[in-house]
Amino acid sequence: MGVYLDNAATSWPKPEAVYQAVDRFMRQVGATPGRGGYRQEEEASQIADEARAALAHLFHAPDPQCVAFTLNATHAINVALKGLLRPGDHVVTSSIEHNAMWRPLKALERRGVAVTAVACAPDGTLNAEDVEANLCPNTRLMAMLHASNVLGTVLPIAEIGRIAHCHGVPFLVDAAQTAGVYPIDMEAMRVDLLAFAGHKGLYGPHGTGGLVVGPGTTLETWVEGGSGIESESETMPAALPARLGAGTQNAAGIAGLLAGVRFVLEQGVERIRAHEMEMARLLIEGLQEVPGLAILGPRDLEWRTALVSVTVEGYSPDQLALVLDTVFDVATRAGLHCAPQAHRVAGALEQGALRFSPGYFTTPSNQHPLKPGRAASAIKRTDDIPFAVCGTRGECGAAVSVGALVSTLTGASYLKDRERSLALRATAEALQAIAEAGGPRCCKQSVYLSLETAVAFLRRELGLDLPLVIACEFSRRNEECKRDTCRFWNPG
Ligand SMILES: Cc1ncc(COP(=O)(O)O)c(C=O)c1O
Repeated sequence: MGVYLDNAATSWPKPEAVYQAVDRFMRQVGATPGRGGYRQEEEASQIADEARAALAHLFHAPDPQCVAFTLNATHAINVALKGLLRPGDHVVTSSIEHNAMWRPLKALERRGVAVTAVACAPDGTLNAEDVEANLCPNTRLMAMLHASNVLGTVLPIAEIGRIAHCHGVPFLVDAAQTAGVYPIDMEAMRVDLLAFAGHKGLYGPHGTGGLVVGPGTTLETWVEGGSGIESESETMPAALPARLGAGTQNAAGIAGLLAGVRFVLEQGVERIRAHEMEMARLLIEGLQEVPGLAILGPRDLEWRTALVSVTVEGYSPDQLALVLDTVFDVATRAGLHCAPQAHRVAGALEQGALRFSPGYFTTPSNQHPLKPGRAASAIKRTDDIPFAVCGTRGECGAAVSVGALVSTLTGASYLKDRERSLALRATAEALQAIAEAGGPRCCKQSVYLSLETAVAFLRRELGLDLPLVIACEFSRRNEECKRDTCRFWNPG
């Protein structure tokens, strides 16, 4: 088993009780909560009720009936935004939002809702006073994330909640990155709407999440359909949770989520956070030794979650993630993490970042396969691996530019000077020969060969035995070549 450091996307592994709860539900319960009235259905309903009660307890929400299950945090945020905002309304958000918040807000903006994104500092920190300064008479909602999935920054939600309360503006918090790993008290933090993901820090399966609706907040329905009650009515029931629960729910997922939330309550959020932050500390300690590496987000661990996003001079995050995965068996996440706003704020929009996100099951022990330190040392070692990154063109099929391949090789530090000049000479000769012969494919300055032919050529001409070739596929969009995907190819 490899090292899983992508808990910010979805936690894994799950507590044993979660696997058992899903398995038991599927085999022994099976019915749909709120639809039926027979014993199996009653058990399914009881499981959903217990999950609501456990979540209300965890978030210090006043009433378990105000917990509506959704597919994920994105779904919950959409239910809240589209249930509340109308043309002419104004909403205040932050400049580091995930697309789960940003895209629905932009969609609403096109329909006449005014959106103000209060500027965060490059490390993602946000001044609560700046939020207050942006309130307008028509501000209908304050909506922002609790913690950034790119920078790890935790926003001062209690302070912002107090401002929202003073101005009588409802407050929606996206707790996708904090539910289960950071203390949340809806009452004390004055949060009116809390959107959470079930599959991250709450250890539920994929397809789980929810929206907690505080007292005094009424939402128009965004999705309508069967609710199991008041079926004679043409509108959704007024009472929660049925009002927001149209259609058959992910009952097996909710059973797993209940087991996950119980696990969090048993362990205690403080203990989970302390462990994860210790893993983050070790990770940061190890990563700091990597030349050219910059860590995004605040320096102060107090205002961070456990994820650590980095950029490394001279390497693209995709390249690093691919090598970490294929060579070192370390799972990380590269790219923009569905949150380009946060990358823009941090100045990392161009190339994105490489994100390590340890979880509660990550441990530094050498006995255990999940070791954050391994990821740090793996990055340090990428310099030593004979690998090549080369460009291929989508429209040329599985093709590779020998020039790109060799020039990447010549830039790789493992090549000795003699090999480097040999490589350059051989490439020039090969390119000329291929061009003279009409070439298999010519595109601007480059000649394209199949990956296999290119590697065979390098082997034959240069005696280079490549254990690993990483091919980055390019496609042509807007007259520019943009990298689409990377793929790993083992020449064997
Ligand atoms: C801050 C933040 N908000 C929202 C989401 C969306 O969560 P989900 O995938 O459960 O919809 C994520 C997921 O990574 C996130 O990190």
